[in-house]
Amino acid sequence: MKKVGVAILGLGVVGGGTYRILTEKREFYRETQGVDLVVESVLELDRERALALGVPQEKIASNIAEVVYNPDVNIVVEVIGGVEAAREYVLTALNAGKTVVTSNKELISKYSHELERAARRQNAGLYYEASCVGGVPVIRTLLDGVQSNCITSMMGIINGTTNYILTRMAREGLGYEEALAEAQALGFAEADPTADVEGYDSAYKLSILASLAFHTKVPVAKVFREGMTNVSAEDIRDGEALGYVLKMLAIGKRTGNHVEVRVHPAFLKKDHPLASVNDSFNAVHLTGDSVGDIMLYGRGAGALPTGSAIVSDIIYAATHGENKYSTFKNTAAADKDISFVSDFKSAYYLRFSVSDETGVLSRIASVFGKHNISIFEITQRAKQPGSMTLVIVTHETHELAVRSAVAKINAMDFARAESILRVAN
Ligand code: HSE
Repeated sequence: MKKVGVAILGLGVVGGGTYRILTEKREFYRETQGVDLVVESVLELDRERALALGVPQEKIASNIAEVVYNPDVNIVVEVIGGVEAAREYVLTALNAGKTVVTSNKELISKYSHELERAARRQNAGLYYEASCVGGVPVIRTLLDGVQSNCITSMMGIINGTTNYILTRMAREGLGYEEALAEAQALGFAEADPTADVEGYDSAYKLSILASLAFHTKVPVAKVFREGMTNVSAEDIRDGEALGYVLKMLAIGKRTGNHVEVRVHPAFLKKDHPLASVNDSFNAVHLTGDSVGDIMLYGRGAGALPTGSAIVSDIIYAATHGENKYSTFKNTAAADKDISFVSDFKSAYYLRFSVSDETGVLSRIASVFGKHNISIFEITQRAKQPGSMTLVIVTHETHELAVRSAVAKINAMDFARAESILRVAN
């Protein structure tokens, strides 16, 4: 039986999960895949951690050279995170002709062109299913399952931390800070939650997924990004009354040569398939020209779900003679004929605090009219003596028109926008 040697760089949560899956299921893979996957080496500075996982002393390497120049190692798994050391290690491994499997979204989003060039030169593989949406096989689906399609749109909940926070806010009426503190106490959110709540994590993932879906490099700098730290319990309650659920969404669309990529909180109709993706679950909804709509759902993080994606990549590499690379020109920038849409179209939910005076509503409506923004729904309620809360939902319109209209309204002394959220369809 073919034997394939694996090395793991980093035995943190994901590396530990990968080690466990590979060792506990070795016999299962021998039977079902006809390949013997053997962990030949691990690079982990904390030797105690490696020993506690059951790694034999002699398999704990003390530097990268020991791993990549080990002739028994065929596949190197990079799960150390961060960018600089990871980039150097991955390049060293690829240049030595080893196939690399990584979960590092920032590395792949920023350097996939450089890494893939090195991989192709050496006829080595470069696989990164675990970099996006943990255990959910969305990259394999894009590369294989729906390759027959032109993908026209993708919409996903691709960050578990923010989905957990928004789910708790919706279910328990918690404020953002309260829900975040709870998520941190339970280990769902990092002590520094910036990467998740400000949308950086989702932006890296979206840049990778959109590149694969739309067959052109989508640099992360082209992703419009807005965090969720200003979302309030009041917005969520208002949305609920109007038939919406608030989610942190990653949205990608390709129309001709126009590509639109954005990450922000947005309301979704309650009957949208993504609206019922709750807690720390992730999902990606794709639309293809032949298949129509499909949705993948599952765990986007965690030792075993992410380890599942890594080991599936290892199995793919170990059982395929030819490597599968990107299905687009993997360069640092998008193809020349691609333009990125910044003035995208969406419907909007706008909450204003207004003075309870004659003519206020008509003056606000007039600003909307002048900006060619059509109002779909208006509700109002008493806020405090002399002031009202006004909620306006628009028909689909342009982002820049809404920003300009809100700036005009804010300049009037009787109204102030308290919340601007997009409504996705
Ligand atoms: N921090 C990410 C999340 C997991 O909350 O989904 C890894 O990408």
